[in-house]
Amino acid sequence: EKQRRLVVVSNRVGPLKDEGKAGGLAVGLADALRRRGGLWFGWSGETSEDGTDSPEQTEIYDHTAMTTIDMTEEELDGFYLGYANRSLWPLLHYRLDLAEFDDQSDRIYRRVNRRFAERLSALVDDEDLVWIHDYHFFYFGDELRRCGFKGRIGFFLHIPFCPPEVFSALPSSHDLVKAMLAYDVIGFQTETDRRNFCAFCVHELGGEELDGGRVRVGDRTTIAAAIPIGIDAEGFARFALSAEAVEHEEMVRDISRHRHQIVGVDRMDYSKGLVQRMKGFERLLENHPGERGNVQFLQVAPLSRSELNAYAELRDELEQLAGRINGRFARLDWTPIQIMTRGFTRRALAGIYRAARVCMVTPLRDGMNLVAKEYVAAQNPDDPGVLILSRFAGARAELEDALIVNPFSTDEIAEALETALTMPLEERQRRWERMRERVFTGTAEAWCNEFLDLLESVPDAA
Ligand code: G6P
Repeated sequence: EKQRRLVVVSNRVGPLKDEGKAGGLAVGLADALRRRGGLWFGWSGETSEDGTDSPEQTEIYDHTAMTTIDMTEEELDGFYLGYANRSLWPLLHYRLDLAEFDDQSDRIYRRVNRRFAERLSALVDDEDLVWIHDYHFFYFGDELRRCGFKGRIGFFLHIPFCPPEVFSALPSSHDLVKAMLAYDVIGFQTETDRRNFCAFCVHELGGEELDGGRVRVGDRTTIAAAIPIGIDAEGFARFALSAEAVEHEEMVRDISRHRHQIVGVDRMDYSKGLVQRMKGFERLLENHPGERGNVQFLQVAPLSRSELNAYAELRDELEQLAGRINGRFARLDWTPIQIMTRGFTRRALAGIYRAARVCMVTPLRDGMNLVAKEYVAAQNPDDPGVLILSRFAGARAELEDALIVNPFSTDEIAEALETALTMPLEERQRRWERMRERVFTGTAEAWCNEFLDLLESVPDAA
C-alpha cells in the first residue's frame, strides 16, 4: 500500500538544517519530517502588503517541500502578537493574570486561520494526511472542511491545555473548542492536558466522553489522545560528538575550570520559571557557602516575542536579578551567573550540555520541554550529569528519574542543586540510564508514527 503524503501546517516552518534558535515545535517537527518527508506549510516569517494573499514561496530540503506565505502587519499583529501570544499563550499556561482579550485580534485570528486554510486547500487532495500544529491554528481544520476538504485532519497541541475553569475566561472559548471538534484526532502532550480538554467539552459544552478516547459535542466526534513528543535522540547524541560540540564543550570546561557547571537553556519566556530558578541558585549560595567559587551557572535565553511587554519586562527583571546576585557573591576570579540572550546551533548546545554537571529545566508550566530530553541524549555515559526537572513540565511524566522540583519553591531548587552537585557517579549513572532509555524510545519518529497511525485508523469523513 502506498504511503499517503503528509501535509504539516504550523506557524513557523523549518529550519530543517541545524541553524539554531528554534522552539520545541520546530525541533520536534523537523526531526519527524526529515525522515518521512512531505509538505510543510506555514508563515514565511515576513510581512508584506499582500499578506496572506501573497504568492507562496517553496524551498525543497531532502524529501520535504516547505511552502510559506506572508502576513500583513495588521494580520501579524492581531493573529500572532495579539490573540495567539497575548491571549492564548498565557491562558493555556495557566496565567490568567497575564492574559488580555480583545475582539479585534479574535477576528483577525479567525480570518488568518481561514486564509491559511483556503490557501492550503489549493495544494492538497483528499488522499493527503493533513496535520495541523499548535495554538496558532485552532480553527484551521474547521475552515479547511468549509473549503470542501474530505480527507483526514489531525491536530497536535504542543503547549498545555489548562483546566476549563481557566480556559472559559476566554470570551470565544466555546467557539474555539467547538471548531476543534472538526479535527479527526487531537493530540496532547500529557494525560493532564487531554483530561482538561475533555472536561471543557463535558462541563462547558454539554458533551460526553465515549470509549476509545472519543469525545462528542453535539453532532461532532473527535478522538483525544495523549501522545508525548520526543527528539531524534540518536541524531542528537551524534551532534554531541561533532567538532562544533567538542569545541563548545571544551570552551565551557575552560571558563568554568575546576568548577561545576550548571546550565539552563530556554527561550526568554515567563513560562520558563527563570526568575525563580535564579533565586534558587542564589539560595544555594546563601545556604551552602562551600559552593561559593565552586559552581558556575550559565543561562542561555534567546530573546523571544520581545515586542510584547510581558517579555520585555521579564528580560529587564532577569538581567537585574543576575546583576544583583553577581554583585553580591562575585570574587575577582569568579562570576557566579552568566546570562546570554544569543542563540546557539543544536550542535553547539549539545557540547554545552555535555560539559554541564547539572541542567535546570524548571518551567512553571510547559507542554513538554525538549531541552530536558536533549540534555539526557547529549550526556557522556562515563560521567553523566544530573537533570533537575519541574513537576509542571510535560517531560516529567516520562523522566521520573530526574530530580523533580516544584519550580515555585526557592528552597526546593536550592536543595536539588546541592543534591545534584554532590551526587555520586554511580547514582548519576543509574538515573541517567533510565532516562536515556525513555528518550531513545520515545523519539520524534515514534511520536509521529503513533499520531499518524491513529489518524489513518479513523474512517473517512462522511
Ligand atoms: C513554543 C510553541 C511554538 C513556537 C515556539 C517559539 O515552542 O509551541 O509554536 O513556535 O514556542 O515561539 P515563536 O513565537 O517564536 O514562534
